[in-house]
Amino acid sequence: MAGEVGLSQAMSYARDLKGAYEALRARERELVEANERLRKAYQQSLRYARDLKKTYGRLQRAILQGLLGLANALEAKDPYTRGHSSRVAELSLELALRMGLPRPAAETIAQAALLHDLGKIGVPESILRKPGALTGEEWEIMRRHPVMGAQIVAPLEFFDDGAIIVRHHHERLDGSGYPDGLAGEGIPLGARIVAVADVYDALTSGRPYRAGLAHAEAVRVLDREGGRTLDDRLVALLVDILETGPATRAPGAAADAHGHHGAPERSV
Ligand SMILES: [Fe+2]
Repeated sequence: MAGEVGLSQAMSYARDLKGAYEALRARERELVEANERLRKAYQQSLRYARDLKKTYGRLQRAILQGLLGLANALEAKDPYTRGHSSRVAELSLELALRMGLPRPAAETIAQAALLHDLGKIGVPESILRKPGALTGEEWEIMRRHPVMGAQIVAPLEFFDDGAIIVRHHHERLDGSGYPDGLAGEGIPLGARIVAVADVYDALTSGRPYRAGLAHAEAVRVLDREGGRTLDDRLVALLVDILETGPATRAPGAAADAHGHHGAPERSV
């Protein structure tokens, strides 16, 4: 009797055990399926993220392109500044790379260089193209262009570093620049880079009030300014790039320097 009870109990355990085992297997299969669904959803969301990133990148480029178009239109109106920003951008990119900056940072600096004078869109043409010296009031207006340029690009969150460069491209090492009178290393490196390239190109290009300087003369002016208003390491690097670097670029303009030396601060 006791043996029968023991046997039926054992059989009942075995059935329970089998049931539990099957339930476990079913659960396991469900988990595997759920896992698979999750994996697919994860991959799908990765694809969405990649697409979104691509779209965002395209949008950024489109917005920058639009601004570049605006900057080009502004420059094209004036024979004295035509091509100035793209030459400054080219030199700035080279300087940034030679300073050891990573390529994305160097490219941001180059983009800021392309847009550095965009704020001149807010300066009346009578001032921009005035052949003679500017009055105090006219200078006041002219000197607003870095802040105006920075304000134009400010809504582009991805271009924060670029906006800072646009704002500070007329700061000078000794604190004599504008708009904030920053000095030394307090001036962002990108702005110091664009400043050196900007001054060189302004010196070698003609202006309504003077002819462009020859390369050697422009270098003499830069050497004088190095350590005073311009970063001397960058001046040395620029000279090296122009004289020994890949000959992709000829100096801005006239080789016959019969004009008087324009002070670099006139490179607005
Ligand atoms: Fe400027």
